[in-house]
Amino acid sequence: MSRRSHSPPDPSSSRLAKRPRLDFEPLTPDDYKDGLMLAPMVRSGALPTRLYSLKHGASLVWGPETVDKAILHTERVVDPVTGVVSYVGKTKPIFLTHPIEKPYLIYQIGSADPETAVQAAKMVMQDVAGFDLNCGCPKPFSTHAGMGAALLSNPDLLCSILTALRQAMPPEISVSAKIRLLPEQNDTLKLVERIINTGVNALTVHCRTRNQRKREPALIDRLREIVEFVEGMGRGVAVIENGDCEGFWDARRIREITGAHSCMIATAAEANPTCFSPTPLTDLEKTFIPAYIRLARYVNNHWSLTKYCSSMFIGDHVNGSRSDLKNVRAAIQQAKCYEDMEQITGTGTGEDEFRGIVEAIQKRGGRRVKVQILNGDSGPMSSKGFSDSATTEATTTATDVPTTSAGPEDAPSTAQSECSSKLTPEADGTRDRLQTPPTGPADPSLMNAPLAPANEMRMPLPAMITGELPTPTPTPRIG
Ligand SMILES: Cc1cc2nc3c(=O)[nH]c(=O)nc-3n(C[C@H](O)[C@H](O)[C@H](O)COP(=O)(O)O)c2cc1C
Repeated sequence: MSRRSHSPPDPSSSRLAKRPRLDFEPLTPDDYKDGLMLAPMVRSGALPTRLYSLKHGASLVWGPETVDKAILHTERVVDPVTGVVSYVGKTKPIFLTHPIEKPYLIYQIGSADPETAVQAAKMVMQDVAGFDLNCGCPKPFSTHAGMGAALLSNPDLLCSILTALRQAMPPEISVSAKIRLLPEQNDTLKLVERIINTGVNALTVHCRTRNQRKREPALIDRLREIVEFVEGMGRGVAVIENGDCEGFWDARRIREITGAHSCMIATAAEANPTCFSPTPLTDLEKTFIPAYIRLARYVNNHWSLTKYCSSMFIGDHVNGSRSDLKNVRAAIQQAKCYEDMEQITGTGTGEDEFRGIVEAIQKRGGRRVKVQILNGDSGPMSSKGFSDSATTEATTTATDVPTTSAGPEDAPSTAQSECSSKLTPEADGTRDRLQTPPTGPADPSLMNAPLAPANEMRMPLPAMITGELPTPTPTPRIG
């Protein structure tokens, strides 16, 4: 089997921005509207989680914050069998992605320097739809270097990074920012105005201040004024609410309170990546966790990262019980590698799960899911204290898109066989009532795709992953 490599682009080359490869409809501000987004999450926002979130209705997915410098010295390696793209650093992959998620993938940058941010963006721009600047992380590893929430008190620097990204990226690449509320509403509005004027397509507001902790309720009541302010600026920029959204139905409640164009979900998606669906999976130990682990193995997600994510999953129980979940959790806890999980996962390769995800995403034809509430039956909103006298039916539909931390994903190396690793820390989908259009243009990146051998079966791979030069899949490195 031939292995192929793609040389990493020279980040200093200004020619990169002049020849973008446009293989899907570029993101516009409208693509950030009427959506449910997967939030950026270090560790928890790993590739398998993003893929399952997309399968179950996420409109767009944010990758975990990656510090600009961490990606600069990576090598881009493509696995010709799975199509997985790894940005491999000296000791470990810093970022994993797959072409199937590209039209929906927002890569989040941690930065305190415009030039370095641009260099980092140029490294990965061929694999993403947009970039987001993290202006909200209050963790010391981020703020001590002037990144994350530290940017909130340095608006000149914050806006200079966004401006630099917007100028250096071709128009097809979207730029956005994610902030927290400032203690004073007026200061927040002033900051928001400056950010909008940099030319971003979307602004996510985590409705907590820098000093608020996770357990404190998000201050969503403050958002409506911000949304109205942004709308008053007349640029059509999308405002995405973030904070305490629990899923599809809860997003409706939050959007009604805040007027936000979309909601973004972190903690609830970390617990159940199918929460984007109006009918999220239940009994995850049976319906989701085994499939998730098989998929993670297939896409070469490092076991330690898969272990971490799997141990966070928890869903409602309908046919099973909490003790079923406990047993699976215990198995995950004890396992040192994927092979140790075969009692739970069976010996499936994960290829079936991968094909199911590819099919679900391909049905969108490169378009982004729009969440629309139509008249019809009611959902389980009462559990959130939300009531609506009108009968409603929630559907997710895709609509046409106008043409137009030291590497926080801190999984060391690759996944395949790591019994020697010392590192530790479904979904049948048929229950979903996601409605994607039966017809529509296929994602051009997958049209006329060559067939690559994958185990016994042959499956289409996106054309963009076939290159000329042989290269190995990243070798597992420990440490
Ligand atoms: C495990 C975890 C990792 C996170 N990593 C990031 C990150 O990389 N970048 C970021 O902007 N926010 C990050 N956050 C914050 C979330 O994106 C989100 O703003 C916050 O959790 C509030 O949303 P929630 O109430 O839905 O959890 C992280 C949150 C969690 C729980």
